[in-house]
Amino acid sequence: MKLSEHEIKKVLFSAEEIKTRVAELGKILTEDYKNKNPLLICPLKGSIMFFSDIVREIKIPCEIDFMTVSSYNSNTVSSGEIKILKDPTENINGRHVLIIEDIIDTGLTLYNLKKMLSGRNPESLKICTLLDKPSRRIADIKGDYCGFVIPDKFVVGYGMDLNEKYRNLPFIGIYESENT
Ligand code: IMP
Ligand code: MG
Repeated sequence: MKLSEHEIKKVLFSAEEIKTRVAELGKILTEDYKNKNPLLICPLKGSIMFFSDIVREIKIPCEIDFMTVSSYNSNTVSSGEIKILKDPTENINGRHVLIIEDIIDTGLTLYNLKKMLSGRNPESLKICTLLDKPSRRIADIKGDYCGFVIPDKFVVGYGMDLNEKYRNLPFIGIYESENT
């Protein structure tokens, strides 16, 4: 796969760099969630790569679950609204819940998701995000754990998409269309 074929001009984080950082985060989470049997929640689909890699770096008993939350329309601008298309199957009441997210951009998705899940009385509710784009934040939210802080660019790869494309790239690249 040639980068140019994908309108991806720049690799922001290589597969190796991602792997190293994910292992570091996994170590921290292993320590912080000892004896807590955390419930790790993956909001589909963007987080799948990060989720599947980081759960294997968390070396304590834990459980996993999936949700589908829609936030983005078919363009690069957030709609500002979320819709829960699939709830976690586990009851989160009294659980230590950790949301594993791909990226916090405006923060609207996580803000609403956190508010909704808080109402179900988890023992704790935290966020681990691979990427943080603080320059575009609208909602008052921050990740409790963060892989990398990035500039205001649209990124794809390692699970993240543009109109469902590029999720399979093993690295994270900056997307720039021909006419930007
Ligand atoms: P937010 O509600 O604006 O924080 O957006 C959150 C969701 O939008 C993320 O979980 C991603 O799925 C998607 N998103 C935000 N920025 C990007 C990006 O640069 N590339 C790909 N997806 C993004
Ligand atoms: Mg996401």
